[in-house]
Order: sequence, then structure tokens, then C-alpha cells
Amino acid sequence: MSNIITMIAPVNIAVIKYWGKRNEELILPLNDSVSVTLNANVMCAKTTVCVSPNFLEDEIWLNGAKESFTNQRLQNCLKEIKSRAAVERSVDDIFLTWKVHICSENNFPTAAGLASSAAGYACLVSALAKAYKIKSDVSSIARLGSGSACRSVYGGFVRWHAGVESDGSDSIAVQIANKSHWPEMSALILVVGDTQKKISSSKGMKLSVETSDLFQFRVQNCVPKRVEEICKAITTKDFVKFAEITMKDSNQFHAICLDSYPPITYMTDTSYKIIEMIHKYNNIHPKIKIAYTFDAGPNACLYLLEEEVPKILSLIQHIFPTSTPDKFITGLPIQHEKIDTDLI
Ligand code: ADP
Ligand code: DP6
Ligand code: CO
Repeated sequence: MSNIITMIAPVNIAVIKYWGKRNEELILPLNDSVSVTLNANVMCAKTTVCVSPNFLEDEIWLNGAKESFTNQRLQNCLKEIKSRAAVERSVDDIFLTWKVHICSENNFPTAAGLASSAAGYACLVSALAKAYKIKSDVSSIARLGSGSACRSVYGGFVRWHAGVESDGSDSIAVQIANKSHWPEMSALILVVGDTQKKISSSKGMKLSVETSDLFQFRVQNCVPKRVEEICKAITTKDFVKFAEITMKDSNQFHAICLDSYPPITYMTDTSYKIIEMIHKYNNIHPKIKIAYTFDAGPNACLYLLEEEVPKILSLIQHIFPTSTPDKFITGLPIQHEKIDTDLI
């Protein structure tokens, strides 16, 4: 007698970055963020959970390697799932005493700045929620695993409200527009480096909060205005505005990293070469055609409208001659993604 559930979940790449927490344990952010959820058929996390009376311990495997279940975030997610199951009375009491085995893997680089923690925890928590037959919203549970994961539960364009309450009750992700609102929106992922980042997002943002003088300025004076503007640009399908804010916010986020002490550098020479390529391309057109954004890693996410994709793929080959139409200079595939739908 056991219960086996497998789910997949997409990554989401923020256009207004979440960077900095007001509560480390509940994972409550200091600023609102906005993201686009990408197609789970291209880059995704896949998680299988099995709850059984035959298991002696809770156990987890990540990308085939056994990890420690003492991980506090993992424990918090499982605890919250079980307490919801108890409140909702969705499973028998005995089921709550059984141990769980979790097997989770990503089909893209883990901890390299491609939002593996977002897809990973959205997937893990959704699979657990299904196993424990939870009906209520799981986004806030995914947030306990990794902040950005609360956005990956929803498709399309998503805003995570920072909230002000100390218990996190108003720190919630909300869909701004669904997948079909802007079907021409596309993303190209250029994998510049697939190795694990030296400083995790969690550690990096903590250091920025503690040491960056620019950090407060960003949170108070820049993000609120940008969030309103980009939400409007999404609603009205104003690509030029969307792209401009996206690039500026990525640049500001990396400026904050550099202003942290000691400085954090996630981007490499190749990342900067991509930025230069995009600005040159935009400058020879009357309007902005493409945007870049970089998470906490060297890898680029380019946002563009579908009609631009073939042109940009040939531009990439021209600027980076060792790349091919489907592989970047690193030999890793150029992922072409569309927007994805809610995780159910
Ligand atoms: P990224 O930029 O890839 O999100 P982070 O530093 O935010 O990198 O988080 C990486 C961490 O997220 C991993 O070390 C691991 O603890 C967790 N993680 C990533 N993928 C998964 C997954 N599929 N299942 C569970 N946890 C995951
Ligand atoms: C740069 O959600 O990975 O990708 O909440 O500590 O797990 P934790 O951090 P995480 O941080 C994401 C940072 C970012 C920007 C973003 O996704 O908004
Ligand atoms: Co992450």
C-alpha cells in the first residue's frame, strides 16, 4: 500500500528581480517581483514522491544523488503539507505518520542561475500536495522551499507581492496575465556556464542586504515604480516598455551584487558580450526588439516576440561563430521557450 505521484514544473525567469528577504525562515521578500513562467516541456523539474508504511526514514534524491533530509527548507515544506492535510482532513491520520521518499531531477543545469530552485520546489511541493490530497493553494508552501518557487506554480506572467504582514499571509504570488494573453512572447535561453554558482542566491541576497549601500535605494525608489510600469506593459502588450524595464532591472540587480562586500559576480565576459550584442541590435532598429535578463548566474534569458527568433538565432551565430543554430558556444542547446500555463 503506497501512494506514488510524479509531476513536472516549469522555471520562471524574473523581469523584476526578487533579491533580499525580510524574514529568512518564512522566506518573505523585501520587494515585489514579476516573472514569466516558461514552457515546462523545455526546461523543467520532475519530481516523484512516494508515501509508504514500509519506509523507515524520509529520504530525498536530487539529480540521482542522495541529499540530507535535515535541510530546513525541505522540512518546513513537508511540515506545512502535513499540517494542511490534518486541517483539511484530506488523508487518514495514519497516512501522516508514514515516511516519504522524494526523487527530484532537473533537465537543465542546477544552481547555475536558471531558476532550478523555483522549478524544483514548485514541483516538489505540488507533488507532495497531490500525494496528501491537499485542495488549498500550494504557492505559499512552495515559497517556504525557495522564494521564487511561489511564482512557478502559476503560468503566464506572475507578480509576487512582498506583503507587510509578519506571518507572510499577504506575501502571495498572483497571475497578472495568463499564457494566451501574449502568445507571441518567446524566450531564448543561452547557457553560458552550467557549473554550480559559487554563492547561492540565498547567501548572495543576504550579503547584499547586509552590505550594499545601493540596496535600500533600489527597494525604496526603483522597484515599486518599475513593478507598476511593467505590469501595465504586460497588460497592454507594450513590448518596448517591457523590454526596457527588464534590461534595466537585470543590470541594477547585478550592480547591487557588485556593490555587496565582498562583491558578488555572477556574470562572465560572455554574459557581457551578449548584453553588448543585444544593445547593438536594438540600436539599429527604430524600436527595441529584444531584452536580456540574467539571474544569479552567467546564463542569459532573452525575451523577444516570436517573429524575431530566426533573426536573433542568426545574429548569435554571427557574433559567436562557434555556436550553431541550436547550440551556444558552450555546446549546450539554445532553448526556445514559450510561456507556460498553471501547474495543476
Ligand atoms: P538557481 O539559480 O538554480 O535557482 P539557487 O542557488 O537558487 O540556484 O538554488 C539551488 C538549490 O535549489 C539547489 O542547491 C537545491 O538545494 C535546490 N534545488 C534545485 N533543484 C531542485 C529540485 N529539482 N528539487 C529540489 N531542490 C532543488
Ligand atoms: C536572482 O528564490 O533562488 O533568481 O528564496 O533564497 O531560495 P531563495 O532564493 P531564490 O532567489 C531568486 C533570485 C533571482 C531573482 C528572482 O528569481 O526573482
Ligand atoms: Co533560485
